Amino acid sequence: MNNDVIFSRDLSGIEVGETHISDVKGEEGLLSYRGYAIESLATKPFQEVVWLVLFGTWPDASQKQALKEFMAVNSQLEADELHLLKAMPLTLHPMLMLQGIVPLLQLKPKQTIADLSATALQGLLIAARLPSLVASWRQLQLGNTPLAANPNASFHENFLTMFNGHAPTPAQVKVLDTAQILQMEHSFNAGTFAGRVCASTLAPIQSSISASIGTLFGVLHGGADQAALEMAHKIGSPALAAGYVQNVLAQKQKIMGMGHREYKVVDPRARILKPMAKTLCTEGEAKNLFEILEAVEAACQVEFGKSKKEIWANVEFYKGAVFHQLGIPSHYFTAIFAMARVYGYIAHYLEFSKDSCLIRPRARYVGNAI
Ligand code: ACO
Repeated sequence: MNNDVIFSRDLSGIEVGETHISDVKGEEGLLSYRGYAIESLATKPFQEVVWLVLFGTWPDASQKQALKEFMAVNSQLEADELHLLKAMPLTLHPMLMLQGIVPLLQLKPKQTIADLSATALQGLLIAARLPSLVASWRQLQLGNTPLAANPNASFHENFLTMFNGHAPTPAQVKVLDTAQILQMEHSFNAGTFAGRVCASTLAPIQSSISASIGTLFGVLHGGADQAALEMAHKIGSPALAAGYVQNVLAQKQKIMGMGHREYKVVDPRARILKPMAKTLCTEGEAKNLFEILEAVEAACQVEFGKSKKEIWANVEFYKGAVFHQLGIPSHYFTAIFAMARVYGYIAHYLEFSKDSCLIRPRARYVGNAI
């Protein structure tokens, strides 16, 4: 065996590229986009953070206006795209629908933005369409006619209206803006890395985003948001949380929304989402769900403390309680995550394409000899 060969099944701790987009300091629980701490970005206007993540600077007044108009004009689905949606089996999980339809979108932006490349505009067109696709899918699954996008509403106001069939309050829009900023970008996570591998073959941006969305779907990654809230529903009461945790760990299974490859302390996004969830979940079923999650978190700290494992709440743990209060059913959580993370995917596609190389690792062959 060649001793110079590095063997890693999971690439844990291995640096596989450079990026200027975001920085995750896992030991300290710090996350920043383009040099700005996530705590300072969480309350900024959503589309300004989009511009920062994509292009590395804050937008000036004309760039803000151009982005707003571009996203509004390109959010409406084309008639052919709506036909495609209607032709898909309505039982498909929203994430499978998204992964399938992204490469089929017509990437002909209706408007342009000064100084942006054609690829950046195509990426932004996909990002503009995702909320309409997710909301239309929900309406079709409910047996309703999808609602048209309203170019005069703000980005997430428009989404929540199309998704729920009625206008949200300004406070609900602000909550979604913040949650989406928190989820926008996270360095070389599995979904982004899959997109970079795809980009490395010189495949187009829609293939890369589709690959990323497919990777985000799994429960060890973005799909943990749905799984964590469904776990809380299954537990049913805070008093049963400790027993549930002990039972799951005794069976060597995982608690969803707990643990992270990089963070060895509480995920900074969970630190922001927990008080948001607490403020929103003050009554009835929502309060009960929040209290179950708090009890699961406390039980995990006791159990993981015994084995000295640094496993703490990640971004997915309290997010479901927040989304639940926006009227979003749990099987849509990951698709809404994809609506935010798509900006990270675009940013990485653009960054990687500037200095591209084929990503092609080697396998250690352990099969029959010739
Ligand atoms: N519940 C119980 N045990 C856990 C958990 C958990 N959530 N997470 C890690 N562990 C344990 C493992 O069982 C393992 O124990 P062992 O050494 O005794 O075998 C040890 O901690 C290391 O776990 P790995 O899964 O090998 O570590 P990895 O770095 O791959 O874990 C991961 C990261 C996959 C996120 C893991 O913590 C997990 O599966 N969490 C639950 C799913 C989840 O919430 N995913 C969302 C992550 S955030 C995101 O992707 C947006």
